[in-house]
Amino acid sequence: MTKVFINGYGNIGRRLASAISGDKEIQLIGIAKYTADEKTHEALRNDFDIYVPKEKIKEFTDKRYKPIGTIEQAVERCDIVIDAAKEGGGFLNKKKLYDPINRPAIFQGGERRHGKYSVADMIHNSRVNYEKASDRTYVIQGSCNVSGMGRIIQPLIEGFGDEITRFDVALIRRWADLEDSKQVKDSIEWDANPHHQDDVKDFIPTANLYVDAYKVPSRMMHLHQMSIRFKTKAPSKDSIIETFRKEFGIAILNSASGTAQVRKKAMELGFSHGDTNMVHIHQEVVRVEQDVVKIPYSDDQTGMVIPENYLLLQSMAHKLSKREALAKTDSLFQMQHKKKTLEEEFN
Ligand SMILES: NC(=O)c1ccc[n+]([C@@H]2O[C@H](COP(=O)([O-])OP(=O)(O)OC[C@H]3O[C@@H](n4cnc5c(N)ncnc54)[C@H](OP(=O)(O)O)[C@@H]3O)[C@@H](O)[C@H]2O)c1
Repeated sequence: MTKVFINGYGNIGRRLASAISGDKEIQLIGIAKYTADEKTHEALRNDFDIYVPKEKIKEFTDKRYKPIGTIEQAVERCDIVIDAAKEGGGFLNKKKLYDPINRPAIFQGGERRHGKYSVADMIHNSRVNYEKASDRTYVIQGSCNVSGMGRIIQPLIEGFGDEITRFDVALIRRWADLEDSKQVKDSIEWDANPHHQDDVKDFIPTANLYVDAYKVPSRMMHLHQMSIRFKTKAPSKDSIIETFRKEFGIAILNSASGTAQVRKKAMELGFSHGDTNMVHIHQEVVRVEQDVVKIPYSDDQTGMVIPENYLLLQSMAHKLSKREALAKTDSLFQMQHKKKTLEEEFN
């Protein structure tokens, strides 16, 4: 059994923990907590063993949150770490904890791919480079937006290739996640230097892609407005939709009014953590105008990367073929079932 340690128990870490604990071939040795707060109680209630920084053992114990060991011990005890630290925290973890004992690790999309704070030399996107991750010690799982863009762009390149001259994406990002305590600011904010464009080009270098990112006062998913420019006349709307019909992790919806309705439907349907774990193409607003196709799709910010991390784990730790890994992922996350249900609900 592969021993996994999840270093971080925030929005991403807690979802990873509940998904991975459902896999009988993996032993989740535990999760890390750095703050002795209410989330610690939740983790213990879910039967997760807790590892904490050495200097905080007393603080946790005083609050009756009994840790099973230190973070250093967890890294020693596991075969692979999934680092789910808040943005940028993975770099120090790598230097301090993983590098000294050469412990393999998966990092999240808030970490750097280039420069002096770089944690790995590849970004994983299961649709594009699953196999390439299998012999790596460190890999970044692309962020939710980067994962979503890869999932849409790659089938288009495979389907229409040289006919496409350019991709432009307006990324409309949520301000905070539902579970975040931080206030949502009443403002539309822009990003002078969005990382998403370079991140996607890391695994699809041929994509002539330009990304603009805006943050809006919402907690309910992201919306991407992707415009695809063709050399001559663009393909029909039907042929664009057909390109995505059988894709893993893409639902084609026809009557959702907005991102909140999709999120609330996922909660109402009892999907784990209220996540759909996928992107949703909003078919009724897909437009073909002369040489341009416009595809608006929503991207489940918290759920999207959880099956992606799981697939990456299959590549790095179990060396499964992509076909086997997708089948396992589908069985654990019920992706086909969720896709079918959402498509029926919003048909
Ligand atoms: N939220 C999303 O929708 C989303 C989507 C895709 C990717 N990501 C990426 O996933 C990563 C985590 O995001 P998040 O939203 O889960 O953040 P988060 O909710 O702010 O959680 C971050 C966690 O980091 C823990 N932490 C503190 N110091 C740490 C350390 N040295 N090492 C490891 N963990 C530490 C905190 O633990 P305590 O609470 O115990 O202090 C906290 O639980 C980021 O790289 C982010 O960019 C996030």
